[in-house]
Amino acid sequence: MSVQPSTVESVLIENRVFPPNEALVRQANISGMAAYQALWKEAKNDYPAFWARLARENLVWTKPFTRTLDESNAPFFKWFEDGELNASANCLDKHMGTPVENKTAIIFEADDGAVTKVTYKELLARVSQFANALKARGVKKGDRVVIYMPMTVEGVVAMQACARIGAIHSVVFGGFSAKSLHERIVDAAAVAVITANYQLRGGKELPLKAIVDEAIETGGCESVKTVFVYQRTATTCNMVGGRDITFAEALAGQSTDCPPVPVSAEHPLFILYTSGSTGKPKGVQHSTGGYLMWSKLTMDWTFDIKPDDVFWCTADIGWVTGHSYITYGPLAAGVTEIVFEGVPTYPDAGRFWQMIERHKCSVFYTAPTAIRSLIKASEADAKVHPARSDLSSLRIIGSVGEPINPEAWMWYYRNVGGERCPIVDTWWQTETGGHMINPLPGVTPLVPGSCTLPLPGIMTEVVDETGQTVPQGAGGMLVVTKPWPSMIRTIWNDPERYKKAYFPEEFGGKIYLAGDGAVRSNGEATKGADRGYFRITGRIDDVLNVSGHRLGTMEVESALVAKTDLVAEAAVVARPDDLTGEAICAFVVLKRARPTGDEATKIAAELRNWVAKEIGPIAKPKDISFGDNLPKTRSGKIMRRLLRSIAKGEAITQDISTLENPQILEQFAQKL
Ligand code: WTA
Repeated sequence: MSVQPSTVESVLIENRVFPPNEALVRQANISGMAAYQALWKEAKNDYPAFWARLARENLVWTKPFTRTLDESNAPFFKWFEDGELNASANCLDKHMGTPVENKTAIIFEADDGAVTKVTYKELLARVSQFANALKARGVKKGDRVVIYMPMTVEGVVAMQACARIGAIHSVVFGGFSAKSLHERIVDAAAVAVITANYQLRGGKELPLKAIVDEAIETGGCESVKTVFVYQRTATTCNMVGGRDITFAEALAGQSTDCPPVPVSAEHPLFILYTSGSTGKPKGVQHSTGGYLMWSKLTMDWTFDIKPDDVFWCTADIGWVTGHSYITYGPLAAGVTEIVFEGVPTYPDAGRFWQMIERHKCSVFYTAPTAIRSLIKASEADAKVHPARSDLSSLRIIGSVGEPINPEAWMWYYRNVGGERCPIVDTWWQTETGGHMINPLPGVTPLVPGSCTLPLPGIMTEVVDETGQTVPQGAGGMLVVTKPWPSMIRTIWNDPERYKKAYFPEEFGGKIYLAGDGAVRSNGEATKGADRGYFRITGRIDDVLNVSGHRLGTMEVESALVAKTDLVAEAAVVARPDDLTGEAICAFVVLKRARPTGDEATKIAAELRNWVAKEIGPIAKPKDISFGDNLPKTRSGKIMRRLLRSIAKGEAITQDISTLENPQILEQFAQKL
């Protein structure tokens, strides 16, 4: 399966097919297309029986379930409901007394390069001890605990400790602002917050505890009784008497033994806030049984995990990828994993490749944005090129979070995967809990930029507005037509919004609408080799995807107009960006005269910082332009399509006869 060099360098046409690596196929957990099809056949023959078998084989149940799927209150589906288990026991206790017990669970590499290793047995002791510390502060089953932590072993320990006692964690990404954190603490009515004094990223010490203090002081956080503070650095931080406690104090005298609390399979394991097209971020609620089974099983299927693998998912625990493929999946699979505190560009942009060599990483999972920025860096400086590191330990490489463009795919395939490792381009979402559509290393011929085929049992389709399946080759909306075990259960505090957002009445209220556009290949370009393959074309709603981070246009607009002394109106759209996938473009009308020149630049900078403070630095608009008004229809609706064209720098072809003041289009077209 060699690549013709001439075709790689030329403009990419996406009709090349890379058959699976024969050596991988022979040993794969799902080996060959026939094995994949056999699983599909099983799923189609008896859907509940298929999932029941997998749930029995992949999880340790303290009480076996007797009912598999309950659809009586659709779309509030229940899986394995009368069964009982504990997630932490399935990740840790399960391995005790087996060869995994003394195996390294986590290789932690700190920002400064210091490496520490923790075995499964040690991890169990640390999780148990912290679980006891939580209990000592009154945290109990069903309570919500917000985790605002850096990428550390302690972050994983905190999540596992919550799971151990049946508390529901809600991790908030350490890059979110005090305001975003506040919103989430209030919505979840958290009884405790687990944080660190500082986080270390790229050689810089960034405050976390100070942001927690600011969030709690905003008010409405009376539910929070305890703030646990991990001393990541020697720098001291403010501690509030009676409320705050350091990890060292909390752990002192606590036993390293803590029996896991069995919970129903439907007991919420966590809430994770994510952006939708309207309103505030929604608290996506996941179950214990279905979710955990899928994060473990997709390790076996997608990553073809073997006992000797060293797995590395570069995501942050603040995102769903870090939940499923750092905290739960790898540990449930009993594999050794790398947890990395820092950033890919520090001390230089060769860090990822050097770490793969150093730790003999065999399965590597990252995001297209990271790949694109490392391509750029290695073009500027040959010293950070992957060729400078020994990457021969790699077997499988993966991609997640946004569509991977064929150029980046080819570079990744050649320079990181050595033309020997399949790229598993995994399409999924916070709501789906785990992988949904992706190639399998021992099964699927690859096509650059295509996430290929759904996993066995995952009933995806592309439909039009009426819910009818569109012909292959035509675009439409991606849906999942049957419930699956790891799916979102509801939106915390807002079941109505859950129904409306994901199970629209137009489709009968039972079909899951992903919010992404997709097209299935008709196979024409590949002589049938990729017939039926899915390609994701991006969101069909007002959700932005910047560097794989999900944000709502509304959220950014609300943040802008919250600057009440300055901003009268704002509209936000996305435009394609070579590096970040999408970039945020804001169109702003001020309460004063439209600024130009230096004044405009100054105000734009002020607004960017304001948005960073309101939401987090990831939400800073890349482009900001000012006009006397926003382009609106007679009925006052903002003409977003026009704004999208302007953002892309395209000529306006739409009918603008209804526009009151066409001049404003020129005003907005002026880039700062
Ligand atoms: C996008 C991240 C194309 C998509 C796991 C989805 C992708 C949103 C891919 C979910 C992929 C994720 N190809 N697009 N392989 N993976 N997306 O909730 O738009 O942070 O709806 O979950 O990311 O983002 P979320």
